[in-house]
Amino acid sequence: MLCLTLTGSTLEENRNLVEQNRAWISLAELRLDHLNADEQKIASSFPSTVDLPIILTFRRKSDGGACTLSEKERLQILYETAKGDFAYVDIEEDVKKSDLKFKDPLFEQKVDLERSLRDRGVRIIRSLHDFTCVPADIYGRISKLASKGDIPKVAVTPKSMMDIISLFRVQSELSAIQDKILIGMGDFGICTRLLYKKCGSMLTFCSDTEAALGHLSARVMSELYRADKVDEKTHVFGIIGNPVYHTASPKIHNPGFEAIHYNAIYVPFLVDSVRAFFKLAEMLQIHGFSVTVPHKRNVQPYLGRITREVKQIGACNTVTRVQNMWKGTNTDYYGFLAPIAQEISHELIRTALVIGAGGASRAVVWALHNHGVKVTILNRSLEKARHLADETMSNYDTLENCNLYSNSVDLVVQTTSVGMEPLCDEDPVPTFAFSGSEIVYELVYQPKETPFFKRATQAGCRVIGGSEMLFEQGKLQFEAFSGYHYPHWINPDI
Ligand code: ATR
Repeated sequence: MLCLTLTGSTLEENRNLVEQNRAWISLAELRLDHLNADEQKIASSFPSTVDLPIILTFRRKSDGGACTLSEKERLQILYETAKGDFAYVDIEEDVKKSDLKFKDPLFEQKVDLERSLRDRGVRIIRSLHDFTCVPADIYGRISKLASKGDIPKVAVTPKSMMDIISLFRVQSELSAIQDKILIGMGDFGICTRLLYKKCGSMLTFCSDTEAALGHLSARVMSELYRADKVDEKTHVFGIIGNPVYHTASPKIHNPGFEAIHYNAIYVPFLVDSVRAFFKLAEMLQIHGFSVTVPHKRNVQPYLGRITREVKQIGACNTVTRVQNMWKGTNTDYYGFLAPIAQEISHELIRTALVIGAGGASRAVVWALHNHGVKVTILNRSLEKARHLADETMSNYDTLENCNLYSNSVDLVVQTTSVGMEPLCDEDPVPTFAFSGSEIVYELVYQPKETPFFKRATQAGCRVIGGSEMLFEQGKLQFEAFSGYHYPHWINPDI
């Protein structure tokens, strides 16, 4: 179930949020602490005005909410509001039993909120928040919260891949507790939100405004990731990197899986330790994953098989399970070649200038070299250019000498980060003059048109943008993951 967190300041605003998201959600959480004081007074009517199960929550500031009232005042308002037709009421784990007894003019004796909720069939969510870590005794604490038949909810903050492993272990450690809610907050936790079912969580929260750290929108959760459709048979794929959330790969793979009716999900994993990730990959029976900076080299000790390209380039961007072994391939290599394959095979590209000598350049230079293209590498640091040139029998020079190579090559490839934020106004080779007849390949895809790209276009060159290579390498990964060609009718927004 996807639960929309409602943080509007009025009930009307929250009703609108429900309507905008209705197609993707199964329930919503009314956050009393975000309502203004007048609206709080009438919030008990909210569930009867929206046709969805509603969780009532009044979150204290110390638990990540906005309520700054005294505990007594807060619980009194919670008690009054809970008289409405809510499906669930959230009560924090440390609220004492005695603080949940209220005087009510309608009754002679004090009313016990917990008992009255249970009598009315309202489920109590017992919540625990930790914004600093994943507590060492998390399994014991969840069991304790569940001991009275309530729904335990733990929202904790994983700080490493090892913490993520602890959260995914909840499913096997506490499988007897059917209804529970588990959330990994913050950047590391996003995979636990997307794979909430694999953690054994009955629901996950989402919002349009990132109401809590790491929230994704209901639309992204449901339409892009289909997180609510994950079941025991779902094949899990992903991308590992650090950082990783800027990557466009989920927008390639998830719509592709859906189009071919393949029960699979592709999730970004923020990974600090590759070793820990391989442990998680076994636990979740991950079928395959993409690898991005800085792990393209680090994964290699864990691979049982690698291709010639991975060995040459020294980088692996695709890992798949083959006969109980991890196999590493490099689709950047073939993805780069795809848009210029015709020209290479017809020997229209015999010479190339490659700007940059970093990780991306290595795939490019090796791909060209292996296909008989004579390469000259230009790089800011001459030493790095020389190193790659020695391996690939290429020429090399510094960037300052770029003007010497004008009019001399069939292909120019730009592989540096110049042109991306924060260097989006810069051109790595401003004195290089395009003749207009060379093919120009700009690997930067964000922004789509760098100064280098624009200059080449104005000179009349055929210019290939980085998103083409990104898509091509993604299609090859998709084949390695699913065994099927990428559906030709899908045009991902990358
Ligand atoms: P990637 O994996 O994206 O290729 P990388 O391995 O860090 O990243 O390589 C970055 C490339 O961009 C290198 O060629 C780098 O040049 P140096 O080897 O001299 O560092 C180049 N680069 C980065 N910033 C640059 C700048 N401001 N001007 C020129 N080249 C730059």
